[in-house]
Amino acid sequence: MSGALLETRSLSRVFWQRRLGRPVQVRAVSDVNLTLGSSGGEVLSVVGESGSGKSTLARLILGLDRPSAGNVFYRGEDVARFVGAKRRQFRREVQAVFQDPYAIFNPFYTVDRVLAQPLRRFHLASSLHEAQQRMEDSLRAVDLRPRDVLGRYPHQLSGGERQRVMLARLHLLRPQLVIADEPVSMIDAALRTMFLNILLDFRDAGMSCLFITHNLETSYYLGGNALVLYQGRVVERAPIDRILHAPKHPYTQMLVSSIPVPDPKKRWKTSLPESAIESGETVGSAGCPFLVRCPYAMEVCRRQDPPMMSVGDGQEAACFLLADRGGVRGSMAPMCKAEESG
Ligand SMILES: Nc1ncnc2c1ncn2[C@@H]1O[C@H](COP(=O)(O)OP(=O)(O)O)[C@@H](O)[C@H]1O
Ligand SMILES: [Mg+2]
Repeated sequence: MSGALLETRSLSRVFWQRRLGRPVQVRAVSDVNLTLGSSGGEVLSVVGESGSGKSTLARLILGLDRPSAGNVFYRGEDVARFVGAKRRQFRREVQAVFQDPYAIFNPFYTVDRVLAQPLRRFHLASSLHEAQQRMEDSLRAVDLRPRDVLGRYPHQLSGGERQRVMLARLHLLRPQLVIADEPVSMIDAALRTMFLNILLDFRDAGMSCLFITHNLETSYYLGGNALVLYQGRVVERAPIDRILHAPKHPYTQMLVSSIPVPDPKKRWKTSLPESAIESGETVGSAGCPFLVRCPYAMEVCRRQDPPMMSVGDGQEAACFLLADRGGVRGSMAPMCKAEESG
């Protein structure tokens, strides 16, 4: 068994949905392999558009949903088999942070209770005094003044304060791993930076993080490695620096080129590039999932699902364009740049 902190192997989750009255199968997560090492302080970003399977992946890892196939291993053990003390330990060591903390706060619980609960549940303080002390320390660690927030209810806090209370909870629990599902997408820019800085402090203290986002810039800020999800599949993985500056998969290139440029002379792109293969074509299970949107689509892309191909420097992508180059370090021309106008 590997020494990884977290590992998923061929993780898949299929849902049945009704479309136009007919049941259709949706592969929300398809054959995902990811690893976070055991040395601590590692960041792995999962980047993808809305609907690409990010939250489903998070829920599978947290044990909140069961995979249709494949496994999640935490410290080499299958999460699905955790019961009793093991399960409790996993619940303590692996914490989730979600987009809207309001949704997971009990509206009838004060902040004190939100923070005291895990202390009690996991026996983290030996006296009431110690519990109080630790709560106050954790609130200060995230720049909240204890007397400003203790005793208040979730609705009496701003969105940013609620998100910081979640961070204070992490500070209290000192998890080994945080699964953060779009934690900063609903807060303003200043607060986002603060939130990310606190995550970086926690990382420096040894906490690892699976950071889920649709925003490449936030994962760039956090550093580490990233994988790009498209329709539940990993289409590219690399250090985030390479994802941003030398993307290999046409989909990743599209994501990078759609990062808004703060230049009033340049229009932000909203439309998707036309595919070389007639758009609107439905993709059989055999072909590349990106086929209909890909401007480089080739005949082989119809017939076969491209496997991951390494381009060196810890980067790999699932695209036949790389096979044409023998899977070696070649770089494709960036596909679409912000349109010039004026
Ligand atoms: N409980 C569910 N039942 C049916 N379909 C679901 C369910 N949860 C997610 N899906 C589908 O799985 C796909 C991925 O969803 P999700 O993981 O929420 O994506 P993301 O978080 O990247 O926006 C979507 O097509 C979504 O409609
Ligand atoms: Mg989501």
